[in-house]
Amino acid sequence: MGKLLKLALCALLATGIGSAWAQQAARLARGKYLMEGIIACGNCHVARGEQGQPLLEKGLSGGMVFDDAAFKAVAANITPDRDTGIGKWTDAQLAKAIREGIRPDGRLIGPPMPIPFYRSISDADLAAIIAYLRAQPAVRNVVAKSQYNMPLPSAYGPPVKRVSAPAPGNKLHYGQYLATIGHCLECHTPRDDKGMLHMDLLGAGGQSFKGPWGESVSRNLTPHPSGLKDWTDAQIKTVLHQGVDRDGKGYRPPMGFDFYKNISDADLDALIAYLRSLKPQPFGGRG
Ligand code: HEC
Ligand code: HEC
Repeated sequence: MGKLLKLALCALLATGIGSAWAQQAARLARGKYLMEGIIACGNCHVARGEQGQPLLEKGLSGGMVFDDAAFKAVAANITPDRDTGIGKWTDAQLAKAIREGIRPDGRLIGPPMPIPFYRSISDADLAAIIAYLRAQPAVRNVVAKSQYNMPLPSAYGPPVKRVSAPAPGNKLHYGQYLATIGHCLECHTPRDDKGMLHMDLLGAGGQSFKGPWGESVSRNLTPHPSGLKDWTDAQIKTVLHQGVDRDGKGYRPPMGFDFYKNISDADLDALIAYLRSLKPQPFGGRG
């Protein structure tokens, strides 16, 4: 082989490795931004102490209990520990678990993990989340099995094929995408007697959450006088970035304020544009 050709091949190989490395670094950065921001899997999967305080040193090793009439669910250990976490799962198995709620052995992941919303996570963002999960320290932690007093369906829908996100420049649609993958409206929409979301009252608030903090009730996020109609964009941003209301009073869990403080300003603008496009509804749909 000619010397020049060899040199050219070396250069080509180096650029190839360089760009693969840059791509992996960008994926990890995106994963960190999402996981420590709007996606906030840690809001459920970070281990908690007796008072409900997050035990950050235990990472995403699970154990938080969700006590409901229909289930007593325990958040799983999703660190790369091979015996008690997801260390043995392939990327494809993780992707299917997150976006379709189906484990490698075929068992369904039950509520309250918001799988119906995660079906909309784009292929690129899903790869970023998986890259982040793999980069976390493995933590050994056996969690109790969840108990469901109701039959779980066999699937949340047909297999998810390819999903792409709208371009960030398309503010309204990108804001809707963010609100979906952040499952904002899962908490901010009232539920019927069977626990199903009232989709015709999207964003009207009124769901109650009990925990070590007492009881909190989700607010009306629609552009109604009982919702965000009279709030400025800056006031809404203060809620998400600082966890305080217009009078400086702190909000209670379970909204993931510790994570939302990392959402970028541009993404907040998109989210707010989307919230302002919702149909105005009285609080909790009660007129
Ligand atoms: C609202 C709480 C909640 C959120 C948010 C949440 N999860 Fe979960 N997750 C759970 C619970 C509870 C379980 C266990 C359900 C069961 O036992 O069927 C679970 C189970 C899992 C499992 C199955 C693990 C196993 O070993 O069986 C994976 C993987 C997982 N979650 C990943 C994620 C990822 C990644 C995110 C963010 C994109 C996320 N979860 C967001 C509550 C949540
Ligand atoms: C796990 C449930 C949950 C999720 C997810 C959630 N919220 Fe909330 N949110 C609440 C609760 C509960 C309150 C009221 C807390 C209180 O009263 O102390 C609240 C309060 C708010 C408020 C204050 C409004 C007011 O009138 O005071 C805004 C704005 C808000 N949420 C927006 C969002 C957005 C945007 C998202 C998604 C990025 C989101 N929330 C995700 C449960 C949630």
